[in-house]
Amino acid sequence: EKGGFEHFMLKEIYEQPRSIKDCMRGRIYPGEGKVQLGGIKEFAEKLKNVDRIIIVACGTSWHAGLVGEYLIEEYARIPVEVEYASEFRYRNPIITEKDVVIAISQSGETADTMAAIEMAKERGATIFGICNVAGASIPRLTHAGVYTHAGPEIGVASTKAFTAQVTVLTLMAFYMAQQKGTITASKMIELLTELDHIPEKIQKALESNDIIKEVAEKIKDSRNCLFLGRGSGFPVALEGALKLKEISYIHAEGYPAAEMKHGPIALIDEEMPVVFIATQNSSYEKVISNIQEVKARKGKVIAIVTEGDTEVKKMADYCIEIPDANEAFLPLLATIPLQLLSYHIAVMRGCNIDQPRNLAKSVTVE
Ligand code: F6R
Repeated sequence: EKGGFEHFMLKEIYEQPRSIKDCMRGRIYPGEGKVQLGGIKEFAEKLKNVDRIIIVACGTSWHAGLVGEYLIEEYARIPVEVEYASEFRYRNPIITEKDVVIAISQSGETADTMAAIEMAKERGATIFGICNVAGASIPRLTHAGVYTHAGPEIGVASTKAFTAQVTVLTLMAFYMAQQKGTITASKMIELLTELDHIPEKIQKALESNDIIKEVAEKIKDSRNCLFLGRGSGFPVALEGALKLKEISYIHAEGYPAAEMKHGPIALIDEEMPVVFIATQNSSYEKVISNIQEVKARKGKVIAIVTEGDTEVKKMADYCIEIPDANEAFLPLLATIPLQLLSYHIAVMRGCNIDQPRNLAKSVTVE
């Protein structure tokens, strides 16, 4: 049942080239520069005029929501707010009939996310779901939705469901952009053509496994670990930190790289590994100066870099390469090595990979 893999988590990490392909199947037409999302097509007109989107979710799904915020604002130019479902539901939030709420949940059963949906629904908002488990409670509560089609996720730590959620949000961002006319036809062709090849690039990213194992060996005994990124690399950093803490029990924090100097920098010494998302994109130069700040304080730098990078390699203690891609697809690729890094560290520490202590696959109580 684990298909030759030692753990479900590893199997699910390796399934990602396929799960992402499944997620996109029948939804993108690169040659025509078109995205089709049958589940929400009745709401195409609504999306053309919507002036705010609220994303509600918990945990890893909330991180996917943060990536969605970058993508929807960048491409569809619609303001997005991303909320923890548990905070949103108890805050008497301002919601109107004009709002579109997107609820993200792998299991489709998370109690706080369900309560947030019910509340937004009562106040007249249109609710979309992004779920993995077909027919679960959340898809039944929403007005419309888009399934992630990642297949059953057994490992408690979410991996392929996260990348599928990000894929759906990417498709939604492009779909909304298409409705609103905020991306030119030629740009859409270019983006979708590249997206179509992302599964192969994920396959390539998985090939760094041996190097990642070596890095894991070096940092496995750390008591803390910091993950830093900028732009859409920030939610990737949050997700990397969550993965590490939940399966290896090493205390980890994700931070926007620029926020480091407002506090976490005090923690940095030779004992502190800092994982940077340092790929070549719009924030590359800024991230390089953040790496220098860590090196100046003798922190150990592990950098996720673009294939062929030379700048970061001069400074970082360890580099893990991922294929080059448009910034829009960075989260899909940069997440892969972080999943593997957490996995190997947890294996080396003798942890229960598929069922970490105190955690459940679906959180049906608040
Ligand atoms: C982390 C993880 C959790 C879930 C969270 C929400 O790996 O799996 O943080 O993401 O409990 O669950 P869903 O997506 O089922 O609503």
